[in-house]
Amino acid sequence: DQVNQGKAVDAYVKKHLLHEDRGLENAYANSTKQGLPMIAVSEVQGKFASMLTTIGSARNVLEIGTLGGFSTIWFARAMKGRGKVTSIEVIPHHRDVAIENLRAAGVQVPEEVDILLGAALNILPKLAEEIEEGKREPFDFVFIDADWDNQWNYFDFGVKLSKGKGAVIYVDNAVRNMLESGIVGDAERVEKAVDVVANVGADDRVDAVVMQTVGSKNYDGFLLAVVK
Ligand code: DHB
Ligand code: MG
Repeated sequence: DQVNQGKAVDAYVKKHLLHEDRGLENAYANSTKQGLPMIAVSEVQGKFASMLTTIGSARNVLEIGTLGGFSTIWFARAMKGRGKVTSIEVIPHHRDVAIENLRAAGVQVPEEVDILLGAALNILPKLAEEIEEGKREPFDFVFIDADWDNQWNYFDFGVKLSKGKGAVIYVDNAVRNMLESGIVGDAERVEKAVDVVANVGADDRVDAVVMQTVGSKNYDGFLLAVVK
């Protein structure tokens, strides 16, 4: 079926286009060993997202949801010598494992990747204040990969914390969320999450699209928005 074909294509892409990376392999193995949920981006998704920062010459990346730092390592690799990643994580154990994984992958913490511990909805207003006061640069790429209930709030902050025109907001699992919450596909389901796609569509600050993906994470997809 489509999901199995997707997995086969992911394996083929990985074989030919993704170089062996001990840092990423260790991050995955160590996160598993330390009991983290295995819900990080796939390698193909991680590479794609990190390539967007290269295409856009991003200098200041904000990540919401560090988990074990798998996507964070991708961003750090892509940003090397060009800029910095700031990542927010709410669970101390995840933050600790992420720091281990990043350092083992040769990423300097906090010089190249700074992990802020706390609930994003508490930290984001502080970042906004620091940007307002000129103590922190606005972000040019925001990667949202955290709890789905707050996706819209994170998106809204992402736009506010961005440098403005041309800044990119990437929302992981936008499609998974639509499917699993019953926003799309299952009329019987009542557990509807906030419809981030509908909100983004009504938001004059951005232009956006959703890409469906199929691969090692089955049926998935992300929302990509550019600030106008
Ligand atoms: C799941 C996948 C994700 O990428 C994520 O961020 C959260 C949950 C999942 O498969 O349930
Ligand atoms: Mg995700």
